[in-house]
Amino acid sequence: MKLATKIVHAGLVTDRTTGAISTPIYQTATFRHPELGRSTGYDYSRTQNPTRQAVEEAIAVLEEGHAGFAFSSGMAAITAILMLYRPGDHLIITEDCYGGTYRILDKLFSQFGLTATFVDTGNLEDVRQSIQPATKAILLETPTNPLMKIADIRAITSIARKYSSHPIHTIVDNTFLSPYFQQPLALGADIVVHSGSKYLAGHNDVICGLAVAKDPALCEKIGFIQNATGAILGPQDSWLLLRGLKTLAVRSRQHEKNALSVAEWLTTHPSVNKVYYPGLADHPGKKIQDAQASGYGGMLSFVINHPLLPGEILRKVKVLQFAESLGGVESLITFPAIQTHADIPADIRERLGISDCLLRLSVGIEDVEDIITDLAQALA
Ligand SMILES: Cc1ncc(COP(=O)(O)O)c(C=O)c1O
Repeated sequence: MKLATKIVHAGLVTDRTTGAISTPIYQTATFRHPELGRSTGYDYSRTQNPTRQAVEEAIAVLEEGHAGFAFSSGMAAITAILMLYRPGDHLIITEDCYGGTYRILDKLFSQFGLTATFVDTGNLEDVRQSIQPATKAILLETPTNPLMKIADIRAITSIARKYSSHPIHTIVDNTFLSPYFQQPLALGADIVVHSGSKYLAGHNDVICGLAVAKDPALCEKIGFIQNATGAILGPQDSWLLLRGLKTLAVRSRQHEKNALSVAEWLTTHPSVNKVYYPGLADHPGKKIQDAQASGYGGMLSFVINHPLLPGEILRKVKVLQFAESLGGVESLITFPAIQTHADIPADIRERLGISDCLLRLSVGIEDVEDIITDLAQALA
């Protein structure tokens, strides 16, 4: 079955009584047992709920994993995965990762004895040199957020296997590309996490998170953490995610087509110093991107040539919405230094290039002429 077909059909639960095509919303906290010692397979909705199960099966199919897990947010999914590790364990993380991932490691998991080294995961030598005897996982974003750097997933998984006597998990936050463009488990990664609030749900109307793993034993541990800690996705939000997911293929193609046109247009603009988009011919990661993904997605960032311009642009945009998120049908423009990446200390932000002149665009599926006309008037 081709990917676009799988996307439409994955996780579909046909109601046996009615034949409903849309998976029913099982809005129930608990399930009646037929008799002592027997269960319908469902006991209590924190542990499992049929609507959530449909979305979990769908993401497992699309990411080619053994099992999927749906959480109340992307950060809840990341938290559950970080709970696989113990005090004294060390993790290697992409340095320009989502600010919330940086924050939870820096401010929360550090209290429980997890240590982290933030590196440019696009630089394999830096990754290799950061491995310590206590390293248990490498958590990657590729493309990175917001600088769109590309990490070589295959090469990193082989470093994780080769340079350590114990298993080092490779975890990929696949939020920016979704399984439509990139399937990290097929490239050798062990775990995939998502903010499902973005491309998977796709309509800026639900907060959700997902995790998928390949190894059954690892899946069992993640399932235990999900049930024990309880940050599960409710049935209504599971249904919204399932509904959004069905159009992932068509939306993704349009996001990418629009993003490429916008990126090319921005490169010609006199107020724009730099455009970060992995689909541009001169992007340094393009070759790796072409080898590990089937496309470039709908995210791009650009640097303008004056620090006063971001405020001006954010005030003037009309089609683009000045808002903090990505991956929905509406185009959103974000100011990473004060929004998504505010928790990364200013000196680190400056060193990474997350400057006061950097804007991030989540290119939506509107008519691209309207997006470009809006940017043109805002930049004028
Ligand atoms: C790459 C990435 N990972 C994780 C998250 C966290 O997801 P959520 O907002 O659903 O908790 C985000 C949110 O913006 C993100 O961009």
